[in-house]
Amino acid sequence: MISELASSRSLEANVVRCLSILSDSVSATEATVWLRAGEVLVRAWGVGQSSLDVDTVIAALQPAADNALVRALSIGETGHVGAGDAVTAGLLAVRTPRPLTTDEIVLMTALANLLWPALAHAERSRMLEVEVEARTAEIERERRFTEKIIDALPVGLYVIDREYRIQAWNRKRETGMQGVSRDEAIGRTIFEILHRQPSEMLRREFDDVFTTGRIQEYQMESLATGELRTYRITKIPMRLGSSAVTHVITTGEDVTDWKEAQLRFAQAEKLAAIGQLAAGVMHEINNPLATIAACAESLGFKLDDVKKAGSAIPADAAEYLQIIDNEVSRCKQIVDGLLDFSRPKQASKERVDLNEAIDRTLLLLKHHVRFKRLTVNTELDRTIARIPQANAEQLVQVFMALLLNAMDAMGDRGVVTIRTRRGSSIEEGAIAEVVDQGHGIARSELSKIFEPFYTTKAPGRGTGLGLSICYGIMQEHGGRIEVDSVLGQGTTFRLILPTVA
Ligand SMILES: Nc1ncnc2c1ncn2[C@@H]1O[C@H](COP(=O)(O)OP(=O)(O)OP(=O)(O)O)[C@@H](O)[C@H]1O
Ligand SMILES: [Mg+2]
Repeated sequence: MISELASSRSLEANVVRCLSILSDSVSATEATVWLRAGEVLVRAWGVGQSSLDVDTVIAALQPAADNALVRALSIGETGHVGAGDAVTAGLLAVRTPRPLTTDEIVLMTALANLLWPALAHAERSRMLEVEVEARTAEIERERRFTEKIIDALPVGLYVIDREYRIQAWNRKRETGMQGVSRDEAIGRTIFEILHRQPSEMLRREFDDVFTTGRIQEYQMESLATGELRTYRITKIPMRLGSSAVTHVITTGEDVTDWKEAQLRFAQAEKLAAIGQLAAGVMHEINNPLATIAACAESLGFKLDDVKKAGSAIPADAAEYLQIIDNEVSRCKQIVDGLLDFSRPKQASKERVDLNEAIDRTLLLLKHHVRFKRLTVNTELDRTIARIPQANAEQLVQVFMALLLNAMDAMGDRGVVTIRTRRGSSIEEGAIAEVVDQGHGIARSELSKIFEPFYTTKAPGRGTGLGLSICYGIMQEHGGRIEVDSVLGQGTTFRLILPTVA
């Protein structure tokens, strides 16, 4: 291409030289060549003053023209020279101070014929140049467009070739704590850029795609941003022209929120199923319990009657009846607790201030012996909107359960922080957090703590109903409860509730 352009330039020089010789030999003041570009004639080369314009030249071509001082000759594709020829590829025109002689016209005609191949070649080169320019611009436009697309993607993306050299690197991969600029990445091997990842493993992953030609997908956890995030990594084979894989496209998508939502959803489903089961069983148990309680009561009355009649009754009969009564109440408490989880009582609902529910809980707990040893830190945002359709008693019950758990986890010593803040939407308008410095909860256990009867406490210390009741109450209020915990450092329970507009 370069040599072609160079030769097109030397051709131009030659044409100009020819024109110069021509104008000298016919004593012309001007000599110009026009080329046909589509429907129009464009001035290509000229010597002299160049005041010849297209209209004058075309007029001179007409058979009836009598402009002896401007002589125009067609340059045709076949070398045929004729005035006004429609298929002409160009025109040669001279302006002379006197009419041309017949010999001079023959000379000009011959020159026009000689010029044709050179001009055609030059024209082809010019057109080629224009086309190359247009193609280059188009390729550049396409490249920018593709770059814009991959930069707009909300996923990190890069492409490597068979030498593991980076050929594309999108904007997302430039940002963040581990971001690397595109200029730095392009052309280097992926092992140099992702030096934190074991290169052998990386190589194996890419080789897998190169050899099998199949998409590989897996999840990866990373602490690169300072917190644990989960990424879905996809490696996609790419073939440039051949059937073999020439490149591998890798995308990395942050799926932490999606995964959490999935887990939440699965847990909500599971708890709903447990709730349904519990509600059914509890309903069945409630009736026999009521019967046992009623029978025990009437047996007590009967014993009183017998005693009044002066007859002797077994010494421990009254004691047994008392035991039955106590155990029945204990069962009843558990049944009520489970029912609170599966479908909290249809308590009356009104607009409730979340901060007031916290104040009331703290007031109730103030006199608790164990609570007195704790430092309670409150950071309440008093500007948060009220919760519509809420039951203050139930919210107090939730905070009470959370604070009692915090107390258990901290062994009664340490700081427990209760804070409230505004959320980002009406659906999640109020957020309350109970943060403790207790022993924390292992990750593997986090999904179980809202299940009824899950407890790690010694028998008699906990029934494992506290959090399941909190869960049920939050559901009933159109909100949700979340937990974050670091083993050995502490736990945060977060309540998220809708507020009035
Ligand atoms: N703040 C916390 N820190 C550490 N572990 C906790 C915390 N809160 C709850 N847990 C764990 O979750 C389990 C379930 O809690 P939940 O309140 O449902 O039941 P419980 O406290 O064991 O019994 P109950 O509340 O019925 O008396 C607890 O046994 C404990 O293992
Ligand atoms: Mg509890």
